[in-house]
Amino acid sequence: MDVYEAVGSRRAVRAFTGEPVPREALQRVLSAARRAPSGANLQPWRVYVVDGAQLTELKRRTRARAAAGDPGDAREYEMYPPDLAPPYCARRSTAAAQRYAALGIAREDRRAREKAIAANWDCFGAPTVLFCYIHRRMGPPQWADVGMYLQTVMLLLRGEGLHSCPQMAWSVYHRTVAEIVAPADGLILFCGLSIGFEDAAARPVRIDRAPLAEIVTFADSQPGTRPSARCT
Ligand SMILES: Cc1cc2nc3c(=O)[nH]c(=O)nc-3n(C[C@H](O)[C@H](O)[C@H](O)COP(=O)(O)O)c2cc1C
Repeated sequence: MDVYEAVGSRRAVRAFTGEPVPREALQRVLSAARRAPSGANLQPWRVYVVDGAQLTELKRRTRARAAAGDPGDAREYEMYPPDLAPPYCARRSTAAAQRYAALGIAREDRRAREKAIAANWDCFGAPTVLFCYIHRRMGPPQWADVGMYLQTVMLLLRGEGLHSCPQMAWSVYHRTVAEIVAPADGLILFCGLSIGFEDAAARPVRIDRAPLAEIVTFADSQPGTRPSARCT
């Protein structure tokens, strides 16, 4: 699979078959993903992979907490700024509208939306989940490194015919995840990454992106930014 195809075919898949993820494929992916770049090569990611009986137990414990209305553990980071300004708030609501429309869920159907959110605790049926941690002393550049690492993993998974769904939602119940994976001291759970084979029966959702001109400026196309032709 070529790189453009890997990027273009990656989606946040939220319907997996239960078909197990071959351990050798996952090992190939995680081994190759070590080549992801990071400032000063800190490689500030730490990953725990959970499947089988441990994942069943994690899903059970988390579902029980969510069903009891447990609002989650003390947050270790803000998922989003509290006051999302344009254009970000519009992008968020458009993405949600596209997703719920594809699922056939009406805007005012709160219960159906809650059910869709609760599917996070089942990893959308995925048989494997990777939990990505970062040390609490790391700053924004290292969090960006972790993002690059995760995208590398997601693209390599496409090369193996696998799909994934990144899930910050798991950070809400990070203590329950910690009961299962026993992370090293000082780590913060950034997100989960559910991994598996897509359920072909589910309707794929393709979420739009902002047009190129909205996010990229070629400086030489802007008046007043060309370097002066005169020497000073
Ligand atoms: C860091 C990160 C965290 C995310 N957390 C969740 C999540 O908790 N639950 C979920 O269903 N999707 C989650 N997503 C998926 C995004 O909603 C999705 O990537 C976005 O809407 C664009 O859709 P696409 O990836 O299918 O193109 C997350 C994505 C990223 C990159």
